Amino acid sequence: MKKIAVIWSSPNADGLTASAKERFVCGASEAGARIEEVHLNSKKIEHCLACGNGWGTCRNEGTCVIRDDFSEIYGTLKEADGIVWVTAVYWSDTTECFKALFDRIRRCDAFCNRALAQKRSVIVACAGGSGNGTLECMMQIERGLKHMGVNVCDRIPVERYNRQYMLPALQEAGKTFAETLENETAGG
Ligand SMILES: Cc1cc2nc3c(=O)[nH]c(=O)nc-3n(C[C@H](O)[C@H](O)[C@H](O)COP(=O)(O)O)c2cc1C
Repeated sequence: MKKIAVIWSSPNADGLTASAKERFVCGASEAGARIEEVHLNSKKIEHCLACGNGWGTCRNEGTCVIRDDFSEIYGTLKEADGIVWVTAVYWSDTTECFKALFDRIRRCDAFCNRALAQKRSVIVACAGGSGNGTLECMMQIERGLKHMGVNVCDRIPVERYNRQYMLPALQEAGKTFAETLENETAGG
């Protein structure tokens, strides 16, 4: 059974982002995957302090000096076979909670650990406003994932306008993602 980590961020437990995440989880569970959800707004994650002259222990040791929920979440990501990144769109970017985690993961993983390199990922950005900035938000995430060598399989924009047909599509996306991970091992 494959493990999928679902990293998601929105303050609203019953909003668009939560619905999108839930549909993906539903599809992936149907296909037999084990899901590890991490709701970033419920976690304590400080922003990067840019220690030293810009690089701290992240550069050579792959660890962060800040003691909060970061290490546990990073551990969940390292153990996962696949990762889904789901965020609400704020200012054409990710939420602040998402960004705080993502910046620190990238610093630890891009050079030293390379624990996420080659893992399959899907990006989901949910815009409840005009929809402006959804693509920029996904590009921002994808740029960071590229720094870590993560294998991005899909980018899914969810907006008020397309919600009706994107939510069912997300369920299919979850199913396909789980099946792809399963088949990869089956095929060697
Ligand atoms: C600080 C802030 C900035 C936002 N910026 C954007 C934006 O750039 N584009 C957009 O379409 N919606 C924007 N929105 C609306 C959010 O995308 C929307 O509230 C959220 O995605 C809906 O998801 P939720 O129901 O999970 O909260 C913004 C909302 C907030 C609170």
